[in-house]
Amino acid sequence: MLITRRERFNSAHKLFREEWSKEKNFEIFGKCCNLHGHNYELFITVQGTVNEETGFVVNLKELSRIVKQNIIEKLDHKNLNTDVDFLKNKIVTSENIVIAIWDKIEPKIVELGVELYCIKLVETENNFIEYYGNKHK
Ligand code: NI
Repeated sequence: MLITRRERFNSAHKLFREEWSKEKNFEIFGKCCNLHGHNYELFITVQGTVNEETGFVVNLKELSRIVKQNIIEKLDHKNLNTDVDFLKNKIVTSENIVIAIWDKIEPKIVELGVELYCIKLVETENNFIEYYGNKHK
């Protein structure tokens, strides 16, 4: 069974490669090469079986605590280009953010006795991505 917890965070970022000129950055990233913000929604989906004692696949309070401590507190009201240790030296696209979140949180979710199944990151109402942990796919 799959169960999903949603968390939210607000962050600033820009899509920019230092080694490219301003013009080249604008050509590739458009106005996203300027600092701007998003109200992100993060959906963490885990897979497991129903525990007979609790009736839960996972205790959502514990899942939420793990996501908040390891991810939300580090990203919320931060500049993703400069303020986040696990995003250093990355182009902070949704793709790279989600891979970094997966790598950071997956071992902690396993400790809850479930598998991390999917991370979905909604950047705008029109743009969102889903990642199933299979690097680069
Ligand atoms: Ni953006």
